[in-house]
Amino acid sequence: MTTSKTAAADKAMSAPKDAIALLKADHEAVSQLFAEYERTRSVANKKALVAEICTALSVHAQIEEEIFYPAVKSALKDKLLVPEATVEHAGVKDLIAQIEGVEPDGEMYDAKVKVLSEYVKHHVKEEQNEMFAKLKASSLDMVELGARMTARKDALLAQAA
Ligand SMILES: [Fe+2]
Ligand SMILES: [Fe+2]
Repeated sequence: MTTSKTAAADKAMSAPKDAIALLKADHEAVSQLFAEYERTRSVANKKALVAEICTALSVHAQIEEEIFYPAVKSALKDKLLVPEATVEHAGVKDLIAQIEGVEPDGEMYDAKVKVLSEYVKHHVKEEQNEMFAKLKASSLDMVELGARMTARKDALLAQAA
């Protein structure tokens, strides 16, 4: 497994960042885990990678839903992007529930991980290209928001460990 690389990634992810930098770093870290999943044939590696992916995605979705999305909704007076993103999170969580803690038992399991990665890719693209782009023109304090999200993320990761 890639223990040292993962520990380094976790450390980097916990450094103080503005809200958008924090979320983008999470997106990148998860995308790398999905790429590692595609490369491995080992059932043990698959299991460990899926555990890591599910924890990372769940914590990420939670800090977005609790802190980031409400701030975006009010800063942009948004009635479209946040509701859509919330629906997409529900789809992601549904797939997580189907693979978390389950033995990687063949093609259906791999298919679920693949579809999860595609959902996430689509969702990330919309966040980064639409939501984050609009936010850059808003007066929202990204550093303050990022600090609150980092604190919440660290607390949730500590619970999950
Ligand atoms: Fe999201
Ligand atoms: Fe996100």
